[in-house]
Amino acid sequence: MKQKVLIPHEKILERVREISRQISEDYWGKDPILIGVLNGVVFFFADLVMGLSIPVRMDFIKASSYGSGMTSSGQIKMIKDVDLPVKDQDVIIIEDIVDSGLTLKSIVETLQTREPASLKVCALIDKGERREHQVDIDYCGFTVEKGFLVGYGLDFDEKFRYLRDICVLES
Ligand code: IMP
Ligand code: MG
Repeated sequence: MKQKVLIPHEKILERVREISRQISEDYWGKDPILIGVLNGVVFFFADLVMGLSIPVRMDFIKASSYGSGMTSSGQIKMIKDVDLPVKDQDVIIIEDIVDSGLTLKSIVETLQTREPASLKVCALIDKGERREHQVDIDYCGFTVEKGFLVGYGLDFDEKFRYLRDICVLES
């Protein structure tokens, strides 16, 4: 399998800095809880948080819709829940990539039942190709039409996460 660079590291960081500035502006005077969706979000989450100029609290959730292949199993498994209570808090979900929308939709629905003061979604990549579940993305890094992406945290079967650039996987 070959990896072709789609978004170089510097371009990613540039865009992430813009999102950090936007979130800092929108949440000025507040201290939102950022909830990262593991594992793919790790680099994005770290870079995003370090670019903020507001205080935040951090928590993580782990859900899985994928087996070990490139296609979704259609089932969401909640592997790890958040530890912080989110009731009456401003919450931002941080996700690596939105594909069918199933993962994000079920996370949003789960958190909504806990009555946060507000709930927004920030995704590094919006992949329109296979969207089946309507979800609003309030902060989006990049829109990509299609292709299977790896690197900057994104994996294929737990491989390629370590790559600095976002790459397209070619068989
Ligand atoms: P969805 O539930 O179909 O939206 O899938 C979302 C999850 O599938 C993401 O959080 C990723 O973990 C994974 N995923 C979807 N597309 C890709 C991709 O192109 N590369 C790597 N992981 C992906
Ligand atoms: Mg994943």
